[in-house]
Amino acid sequence: MKKFPEQFMIGAATAAHQVEGNNVNSDFWIMENVPYSIYKEPSLDAVDHYNRFKEDIQLLADAGCNTYRFSIEWARIEPEKGKFDKKEIDHYKEVLEFCQEKNVTPMVTLHHFSSPKWLIIEGGWESEKTIEYFSKYAEYVVSELGELIPFICTINEANMGRQIAKIRKRYEDNASKKKSENKGKNTDVQVGINLDMQDQMEKYNRALGEAFEMDPRHLKTFLAAQTEKGEHIVMCSHERARQAIKRINPEIKVGITFSLYDHQALPGGEESVKKEQYEDFLEFLPYLHEDDFLGVQNYSRKIHGPEGVIKLEDARLTKMGYEYYPEALAGVLRFVDSHWKKPIIVTENGVSTDNDEERIEFIERALNGLHQCIEDGINVIGYTHWSLLDNFEWQLGYEQRFGLIAVDRKTQKRYPKASLSYLGEIKKSGV
Ligand code: BGC
Repeated sequence: MKKFPEQFMIGAATAAHQVEGNNVNSDFWIMENVPYSIYKEPSLDAVDHYNRFKEDIQLLADAGCNTYRFSIEWARIEPEKGKFDKKEIDHYKEVLEFCQEKNVTPMVTLHHFSSPKWLIIEGGWESEKTIEYFSKYAEYVVSELGELIPFICTINEANMGRQIAKIRKRYEDNASKKKSENKGKNTDVQVGINLDMQDQMEKYNRALGEAFEMDPRHLKTFLAAQTEKGEHIVMCSHERARQAIKRINPEIKVGITFSLYDHQALPGGEESVKKEQYEDFLEFLPYLHEDDFLGVQNYSRKIHGPEGVIKLEDARLTKMGYEYYPEALAGVLRFVDSHWKKPIIVTENGVSTDNDEERIEFIERALNGLHQCIEDGINVIGYTHWSLLDNFEWQLGYEQRFGLIAVDRKTQKRYPKASLSYLGEIKKSGV
């Protein structure tokens, strides 16, 4: 057994919109509910984590885990521009106090993809105003709850908008060539997003325009294809929020998270790897100098040949359609370590599968790799598995299963899986 250091954090992660339910003032709620929605289904009650968080955190703690990463929902805290809802702050206060009671270290994400509807009407993630709005929201949360929060991730997967822009462009370039081949599974994008519904898009966009009462071309949600300017806005929002947090409570450790593939080169693929590593991560480094930690999120790898990314024939696939390859985590940590010496937290890593034995195998292989990284001196201080619960996988709905706990959404009854105890055992005795 290889034991992790005593203070090493092990637990699981969720995001408010994916688990809480009834996030009615958010942009996603609208996108899911308009006619011709490209979402497989709406989130509705989700898994009712808003009301059942105690049961869920209790299950995590009982299994032996000591860390919970979750997000605070901006659309709940500030449902209307400038109007902060104390009742919602009190809700998250209860969540944080419960973590404390159970000796579970909370890690709070301030923005995990969903935004208040009003923010999008104001110009969303391509508008300079968002920098100010986001730092005001961060300031409010920390002035109310700061004492209870040791770690804050300002923004989840700050690089996702640019990745989506790249993939969408590639997709559109190919669309006319191989329209029929592209139907069905879209295996390029890591998160649950449908890029193959062009036919429906026009009607959907019109409906969105009506719902937001604006020109749909100007709808800039967090997961919309992002411009370079948008990327700068996201990163400045992070910097300004970090400054606001530190002004109020310098003790809080502040970081941001990135979605990172393990890019591997076949002979001739080295340049392609370098390009993607730069676009995924290295170009963001100038904004991160004053951060306390970096959140690394990894799900798979990409293999590059002289022509760019190639698909392996016969690769073992996850339910999401991309490769099942737990060793990617260690690959990414080694790459990050060559550019970043401050603490790293693995804020997400996991697999969508209906077979929990595959999840256990995934955790074992990924954490073996992580343990080796620590032995080699890489400064990793925690790991939160994605996800605590089976949940709403964005445009792909509830069919995907990333959870350590299954939920019957008719009764909202929880069924902890063997993988949850397995993860807890690793915290107690090692991998
Ligand atoms: C996101 C999660 C998502 C997970 C699995 C991550 O990119 O942060 O919200 O559910 O991937 O696709």
